Formats: sequence, C-alpha cells, structure tokens
Amino acid sequence: MIRIDSVTKRYPDGTVAVDRLSLEIPDRSITVLVGPSGCGKTTTLRMINRMIEPTEGTISLNGADLQQQPVTTLRRSMGYVIQNAGLFQHRTILDNIATVPRMIGWGRRKSRERAAELMERVGLDASLAKRYPYQLSGGQQQRVGVARALAADPPVLLMDEPFSAVDPVVRKGLQDELLRIQDELGKTIVFVTHDIDEAIKLGSTVAVMRTGGRLAQFAPPAELLSNPVDDFVEDFLGADRGIRRLSFFASEGLELTTDPVVRVDATAEQLAAPDAPYLLVTDAEGRPLGWAEPGDLTAGDIVAEGLLPYGRPFVPGADSLRAALDCAVLSPTGWAVAVDAGGRVTGVVSQQAVGEAIRAAHSAADTGDARAVGPADIAKVAP
Ligand SMILES: Nc1ncnc2c1ncn2[C@@H]1O[C@H](COP(=O)(O)OP(=O)(O)O)[C@@H](O)[C@H]1O
Ligand SMILES: [Mg+2]
Repeated sequence: MIRIDSVTKRYPDGTVAVDRLSLEIPDRSITVLVGPSGCGKTTTLRMINRMIEPTEGTISLNGADLQQQPVTTLRRSMGYVIQNAGLFQHRTILDNIATVPRMIGWGRRKSRERAAELMERVGLDASLAKRYPYQLSGGQQQRVGVARALAADPPVLLMDEPFSAVDPVVRKGLQDELLRIQDELGKTIVFVTHDIDEAIKLGSTVAVMRTGGRLAQFAPPAELLSNPVDDFVEDFLGADRGIRRLSFFASEGLELTTDPVVRVDATAEQLAAPDAPYLLVTDAEGRPLGWAEPGDLTAGDIVAEGLLPYGRPFVPGADSLRAALDCAVLSPTGWAVAVDAGGRVTGVVSQQAVGEAIRAAHSAADTGDARAVGPADIAKVAP
C-alpha cells in the first residue's frame, strides 16, 4: 500500500501545489487522482516516485518511508507513463520497451524477448517492432509507453494523463486495454486525469482534488456519483450524474416478458394471440429482426425489411441498467430487447418497467441493499 500522510508541497516561489493531502492507495487496483488543471495531480504523482520531494508530511510504501529508500530502487519498482508517451525518438519500438530491462542488466536477448511479449500484451502488432516512434500513431505510441513502463514488471504503475492527447475513439480503446491488462496483471496503479469520465471508468477508487491541492473526496465511483460531499464535487461530476450512476446498477433484476416475441415463421394464430401494441419478430434461431404492429404482419409473409429496427439490444447481467435504459429510449417502440450472450432474444422490457427498476435500484443503493453492485462488476461493460 502507498500511504500519503498529510503531505504538503510548497514550491520555492511560494506556490502551494499540494496541501496536507492524505490518501491510502490500495494494492492491486486502480486509484485515480482527478481534478481541474493546476490542482496538484502531477506534483502528487511525482512525489510518489520522488521526482519531487514533499515539503511536509510523509509517503510510505508497504509501511516504509520513501525517504529511507534509495531513489533508484524505488523508481525501478514504479513504472511511469506520461502524456505523449515520452519515447526515445532515435530508438526502435522494441528497444524503447527494452530500455529498463537493459538498464538493470538483463541480457540483450532476454530484454528483447520480454519487449516482444509486452508488445503483444498491449495490443501492438509484432511488425511494428523495428519502427521508430514517429512512424506510429499517437495511440500506438501510448501503448508503447505502457509496455515500456511494464517491462521490468514493477508492482506499481504511475500514469500521468497518459491518454489525454489522443482522440476520443482511440482513447476509449486505450482505456479498455488498460482495464484488460490490469485484470491480468493486478498492478497498483495511480492514474492521473482531468477527465471525470475517464476517472469513473477506470478507477476502483477516485480522489477528487480541488485547486490549491486539497482533497475534496476519496471514494469509489458509484459512491461519488450517489453522494458527492459538496457543491464542488457535484459540479465536477456534471449535470448527468444521475444517469451515469445507472452504469453501476445491474440490469439482471429487470422483469422481461416474452409475450410480444414471435418468430418469423409464426402462424396466423400465433400472431393473433399476444395482447401487445408491438410484436418483436425473431428469426428461426431466436435472433431479433425487428418490431411491427400486430396488424401489419401476415403469416408466411414476414420480411425483415418491412420491420422497424430493434436498435441495440442489451444483455441482462452483463450490461448495466444504464445500457438497458439506453436501449429502451432508442427503441422506436419504447421497448428494449434483451438477448443472451449468443444474441438470442430472452425477452423485452418497456421503458416504464426500466424506469421502475431504476427507482428501485436507487432506493436499494441508498439504503445499502445488496442489489447495487460494485464498479468492478459493471464498469467494464457499461456504455
Ligand atoms: N516547479 C514549479 N514551480 C512553481 N510552481 C509549480 C511548479 N510546478 C507546478 N507548479 C504549480 O503547482 C500547482 C500544481 O501543479 P501540478 O501539480 O502540475 O497540477 P496538475 O497536474 O493538477 O495540473 C500549479 O499551480 C502549478 O502552476
Ligand atoms: Mg498535470
């Protein structure tokens, strides 16, 4: 565990960048420091690997004061990733990644093997190994930065706005990749960002900092969204806080109905039976084709082209209540389509029923009921 204990950093010009900050950063999970520009995030991160020394207070790693540890040993146990990757421009991708292993005396061959293995791990094609950084896209360069930081297998990874300079689509890919890598490797990651959405997506715990280097709130994302401690945190979370909070509720409990679901080869009798304003037509395997009003369907003559689009279905259990709501809102009929992992329809649910489930989930969460699920269960699949 990294423990920051009442740490203050005052720069020589008098600027107080960090003011009596205390944080306990748990092992093997992602802790995010988030806050507006200039609130002391980078300063805090750099005090953890002693690129900056605190003016007051102490930082310890597994109970030992950082001041008592040689800086070189400390830095080796902490990978560091920055915006724009900070790669060596005159070295190939493979050699960039092999930098630290080479520095700590692994042989050339072992270092390169390790680098090749890491390229695969971060989703870089082996064909890029001999290229130079300028020959890679921004997103690829960031992946190299992550691979390089992981090369000597440090238990701690410090990441300072690593994805802030890439476009939103690439950024989402990098975030997903980081979560996947973290699932496999279980590092202690301290991740700095000014983007609250990124913080909520990546963090198991999020420290919201305010200008002046003070901690505003330190909590798991679901708790931040449900109980911001003050107006600053509430503003910082944004006006759609209520909707975003739904990402942390499971869609499992939604009551599905199969009454309006008919197969494309349904008989006239089967088509007449359901008492529903709309019918969802599936193919013979049960995959959704589209919606129609009952009167518009003729047995033996249903064609997919004539149906209303069914939108994007959700997978109960895997997707959040937010995803289910989105499906219902985007559906032309106001009904969301639920499918299993194989894409076969398991039922449909109305906007109204989703709304009721949302109210129930909110009150269950507010009273601490077990139906509210933790971010680790849902965050990775939430939209
Ligand atoms: N070397 C420095 N000397 C003086 N002030 C600094 C120095 N580095 C950062 N600061 C100031 O300290 C505050 C926190 O900076 P920083 O930690 O970089 O914030 P963030 O990463 O959250 O944007 C800012 O007001 C910044 O201008
Ligand atoms: Mg910064």
